[in-house]
Amino acid sequence: MSGPVPHIARRAASPSPDVALRFAVLGAADIAWRRMLPAMEAFAGTEIAVVASRSPQRAARFAERFGADTAPDYETALARPGVDAVYIPLPNALHAPWAERALAAGKHVLVEKPLATDAATVVRLQELARRRGLVLRESMMFAHHRRHAEVRRLVAEGAVGTPLSFSAAFTVPARPQGDIRLDPGLGGGALLDAAVYPVRAALLHLGHGLEVAGAVLRHENGTDTGGSALLVSPQGVTAQLEWGFGRPYRCHYEIVGTDGELRAERAFTPPPDHRPVLRHTRNGRTEESETAPHDQFQAVLAAFRAEVAGTVRGDADRAASLAQARLIDHIRQDARAHKA
Ligand SMILES: NC(=O)c1ccc[n+]([C@@H]2O[C@H](COP(=O)([O-])OP(=O)(O)OC[C@H]3O[C@@H](n4cnc5c(N)ncnc54)[C@H](OP(=O)(O)O)[C@@H]3O)[C@@H](O)[C@H]2O)c1
Repeated sequence: MSGPVPHIARRAASPSPDVALRFAVLGAADIAWRRMLPAMEAFAGTEIAVVASRSPQRAARFAERFGADTAPDYETALARPGVDAVYIPLPNALHAPWAERALAAGKHVLVEKPLATDAATVVRLQELARRRGLVLRESMMFAHHRRHAEVRRLVAEGAVGTPLSFSAAFTVPARPQGDIRLDPGLGGGALLDAAVYPVRAALLHLGHGLEVAGAVLRHENGTDTGGSALLVSPQGVTAQLEWGFGRPYRCHYEIVGTDGELRAERAFTPPPDHRPVLRHTRNGRTEESETAPHDQFQAVLAAFRAEVAGTVRGDADRAASLAQARLIDHIRQDARAHKA
């Protein structure tokens, strides 16, 4: 076959929509243990087939809890018969190399954020997935929580008047020694780990035309541990973003307009049973409302499963992952560096 093919035309391993997608998990990661594998276990459309770890003890612990097989290394897991898809919760610098290997092995790929450490690699991997007729998604789970569509609807209906500015923060306490986030060789640093959340939130609410007007990165012991950026949309709406380690836990965004403001608390990390609060201020009065709990990890899996089945297209998701990677690149290039 020659010439361009539609994205959903040549799937290598796509069980029908009523059959669970069987995942290989590369790495016995904390996020897999706490959030993604419980979601995979609970969601009817997915199954945990095999967990690969460099440590037999960690693999066995996962296998016991989730009823999966184990593999002694990641390559073996990719080659295991009956595996349809691969979940990659490895350190950031290993996302792209293992996504590429998994695509080459004919597997659909769900990779933890960020999809890759630079935008050129995101383009290359998305193109590889398209050529092979496979799904490649970044697990940017918060964007799948239904509360953000609700915020967009409220803004479109004039809840804040004409939007003028957006702000968002994702900051967390200091990371323990040995954390992958503090190792530049593993793609560590707060820009790749934490800035992706406020950047993706800005894209979600202000669109993909955002440009970087200014940025500052703080460096400690050879790693960027925090930063701030000012973005601006073609309409002149500004986005003030902050992220970092070694700070109080902050996890929110705000949209301010001519007539009021909306503030979403616990914007990026609500647990599955959490009822996130939205605060709406207008004419000097503030009202709080709660959104029903929504397991955003199961929501990512549902979107991934539906794209594999060909019942939804992934174009918007791919475009958002690429726009996010480009803004992260631009922040890195434009930032003034401050050393602690
Ligand atoms: N979407 C989200 O909400 C969310 C939240 C937190 C983290 N994440 C992302 O998930 C990924 C993992 O984060 P985490 O907090 O779960 O990290 P983690 O617990 O340190 O897990 C990383 C795993 O990578 C494997 N690994 C392979 N080579 C490694 C090396 N040279 N050094 C260290 N580990 C290595 C290890 O698995 P084995 O030793 O078992 O092979 C380890 O368990 C990161 O990309 C992070 O950005 C996403």
